Amino acid sequence: MSGLKSIPAWLDDRIGYTTTFKPLIEHPVPQTGWDYTIGSAALIAFTVQVVTGVALAFTYVPTPNDAYQSLQFITNDAILGNIVRGVHFWGASAMVLLVSAHAAQVFLIGSFKFPREVNWLSGTVLLVFTFGMAFTGQLLRWNQDAYWAIVVGASQAARAPIIGQFLVGVLFAGPEIGGATLTRFYATHVFMIPAIIFGLLGLHLYLVIRHGVSEPPVPGVVVDRRTYRERYEALVHKFGVPFWPDAGWKDVVFALLVGTVVLGLSIVLGPPALGAKADPTVLQADPRPDWYFLWYFALLALIPPVIENVFIIGFPLALGLMFLLLPFVAPQGERSPRRRPWAVGFVAVVVVSIAALVNIGSRAPWSPVLGDVTLPVSATQGLDPTQQAGAQVFNQHGCINCHAVAGVGGERGPNLSTIATQLSSDQLTWRILNGGRNMPAYGDTMSPQELSQLLAFLQTLK
Ligand code: HEC
Repeated sequence: MSGLKSIPAWLDDRIGYTTTFKPLIEHPVPQTGWDYTIGSAALIAFTVQVVTGVALAFTYVPTPNDAYQSLQFITNDAILGNIVRGVHFWGASAMVLLVSAHAAQVFLIGSFKFPREVNWLSGTVLLVFTFGMAFTGQLLRWNQDAYWAIVVGASQAARAPIIGQFLVGVLFAGPEIGGATLTRFYATHVFMIPAIIFGLLGLHLYLVIRHGVSEPPVPGVVVDRRTYRERYEALVHKFGVPFWPDAGWKDVVFALLVGTVVLGLSIVLGPPALGAKADPTVLQADPRPDWYFLWYFALLALIPPVIENVFIIGFPLALGLMFLLLPFVAPQGERSPRRRPWAVGFVAVVVVSIAALVNIGSRAPWSPVLGDVTLPVSATQGLDPTQQAGAQVFNQHGCINCHAVAGVGGERGPNLSTIATQLSSDQLTWRILNGGRNMPAYGDTMSPQELSQLLAFLQTLK
């Protein structure tokens, strides 16, 4: 039976793990802290996404007629389906967070500097494609919210100068959203971007090995092209430890922690509710992107409208350019965040802004409230029949969706609770017939009788 014993030796000879892989995982690295585990946790999160994504793809059907039903089946009937969908959803959030945090961390400790510029550049592209995954995944739910979120996104993209229409064509795979759009998002989400991410990850990890894991920065020890490599070699030679197991155990612990949180959230909270199936004829939706894009959505709503068109495309371009130029603008010098207060301040401002924007975006006071809202009883109590009819007009013509009265209604337009004290009957008439910058004109759609009833009602708002 000596033949069996020789199987490992045979495999080793043919594959070469003691000569190739063992040195790789045991290669010496500087002694690093917990912040160095974020990148590897992002890698594990990606792996989890691939595994759960494949599991979902076994049942998911990417056509407008079946996509929603197949997800309903996964969520309600398939064995562990709800958990798998949950892990894929929360895992996506984890991946976006971890990849972003990893970018922030290597920025803060100056690891993008010489000789690791290309590590940074490949990481930048990986960050972009991570967001690409998050973006293309949402539409695959093919429910009302996802459908209308893409419509809103596309109408924003359409306003970009010069390339606006082109962008919409690329997004929709045609003049409007439909089966071709779903197919395109599906192919992009499951084939194209993952393939690109695999390739880039290979390059990224190869470069980590090639240049070594950056040493934790020490204030006053600066990167100098002429001396860095020599200093790094000496440091790793003297104080380095084998990556596995001396440094790698921390990566395992942190990845397990992330995995536990993701699994816990999918069991306790589950995936987002599916809601209603996408229906182009029904505008009863909450067309908001998932949180990873909510901040940008909020930003677009808040900036002055004059710069919006340029901003839509200019902002991501400027951001991308900043990322690409960074390692060339500051290839040498201090790495320690203690000596780079601007870098620390920049990250702090970005984090606080994004948190604030996600918060505002989830309320979206600038968009009309959609769905069934009607005037509260307190606003219609004790009105005469004409005024009552006017209140109905106010509900039916959607005024309530943009204007609050007595604490109910949208925040898109000004609160009208006391409008009778501010505007005369003529001014009200003019406004209703002509609309405004962000208000539709009702001149063509409202009968004179409805108009006078509406005016009678508005006059009661004191
Ligand atoms: C899509 C949202 C929207 C709808 C629907 C809408 N409005 Fe407005 N309305 C606005 C906005 C926004 C303004 C602020 C000025 C502007 O943007 O032109 C405004 C302004 C007004 C004003 C002037 C308020 C002031 O303080 O000067 C009145 C009055 C008014 N709307 C009444 C109505 C009535 C009545 C209806 C229903 C027939 C209606 N609006 C429907 C968005 C809307």
